[in-house]
Amino acid sequence: MNKPYDFKTGYQVYPDNSSGELGKKAPYVDHGTERPDPKRYYSKEEADLEWHMLWKKVWIFAGVAQDAGDVGSYFKLDFGKESFIIVRSAVDRVQAFYNVCPHRGNRLVHNDFGRLSKNFQCTFHGWKFNLDGTLNEIHDAHTFRKEVIADVEGLVEVKCEIWKGMVFINMDPNPEPLLDYLGVLPEHVANYPLEKMRVMKDIEWHWDANWKTAIEAFVEFYHADATHPEVIPFSSTTETQYDLYDKGISRMIITFGASGPKNPDRNAIPPGMEGMIALYRGNPEDYKHLKGYEYNKAMIDTRKKWAQRNGWEAELAKLTDDQLTDDWNYHVFPTITLNIFADSMLIQTFRPHATDPCKSVYQVFTMCLPLKDPLQHSFDINSYGPEGLGPQGWDGSVRPKRIYAKELVELGSVLSQDAINVPLVQQGIQSDVFKGSRLGESENRVRHYLAEIDRYLGRR
Ligand code: FES
Ligand SMILES: [Fe+2]
Repeated sequence: MNKPYDFKTGYQVYPDNSSGELGKKAPYVDHGTERPDPKRYYSKEEADLEWHMLWKKVWIFAGVAQDAGDVGSYFKLDFGKESFIIVRSAVDRVQAFYNVCPHRGNRLVHNDFGRLSKNFQCTFHGWKFNLDGTLNEIHDAHTFRKEVIADVEGLVEVKCEIWKGMVFINMDPNPEPLLDYLGVLPEHVANYPLEKMRVMKDIEWHWDANWKTAIEAFVEFYHADATHPEVIPFSSTTETQYDLYDKGISRMIITFGASGPKNPDRNAIPPGMEGMIALYRGNPEDYKHLKGYEYNKAMIDTRKKWAQRNGWEAELAKLTDDQLTDDWNYHVFPTITLNIFADSMLIQTFRPHATDPCKSVYQVFTMCLPLKDPLQHSFDINSYGPEGLGPQGWDGSVRPKRIYAKELVELGSVLSQDAINVPLVQQGIQSDVFKGSRLGESENRVRHYLAEIDRYLGRR
């Protein structure tokens, strides 16, 4: 980490190859030095282009399979001008439909979550549809001339596939299979028990910012020194590793636990990290002998013991030591980022607004492995450090209600710092004097996904 900076090599967080092939720095991808056109972030024409050429073609993260857990359980996804129902229609089948009644267009379901015993029933005139979307009954069908209703088969279906407990939909009738679309991801995260995690927290937030302005605040850690100074002592901020892959996918690896290169005394235990060990019910006294620069070993050891107490030993044994402590953060093009830890994951979703390119919807699912140890607290990643004290003895059996956040503080200490920046950046981007972001090499994930959007929009 101490070599002179070369932009083609960037920073490597595991120079000794401790996480093998998967932890290696990906080969450099040259996206040039141009400044992205600011209009991309506010023009209605651009948003319309994205709707037709991007959003109607890509796999969109819809929610977690847990929310369509038993037959009849459904959840709703509002995405741009559309709304979708994702329902478990049979024990082994989850389907997705446009949330549109074929009679006069009423939204069929109105709540974000629900459970039906038999049918969907429209609230306007009472038409009924089976869980598999087929038409069940047209109320007083004899009052219609038959040509009007002869072609009504039911709800319009969209493609729906599940990967590691996450549900994706695709409006394109013939998309490539989800596993192909996900590129390197299935292999990269195969060993993480993501599908066994459950929703520990679920927050929705509305931003006065384009969806791209919002997501770009979460695909680089260059902002950490200025925006999240409290993480400097225990993570790689400037020295984060960035990797670009095919299909717009990218990654950053943020180290967690060891004293970072910016600490004046790298021998000293990083502030906050003893609290983090205590959060995982380790005893900081056991690790007093460690130097600050090797304090990640305390977190690794503590997480192994955590796994024994909570029944996750077999799962965590598949991970490398680095993965037991560090944040492997992926951008799943284009809608979500995943901060993946050994026992928890943050799914951040970024969705376009129905009509206004200067607004977007943000949703964040904090996923955790359920606990067996009644005294153990879950790690609430939203606060990204010792303040992230989640519920105690949380066994995952109760799905918490979605929080429709109105105040920044509800997002958690670290996420709320990001949330302050986003609308202010949007305002600056819309100024006449702003001619486009000047992106450093720590921000190459921004160039990467914009280039992939350009490919969808026919510009490449
Ligand atoms: S709009 Fe649904 S039954 Fe009339
Ligand atoms: Fe941030």
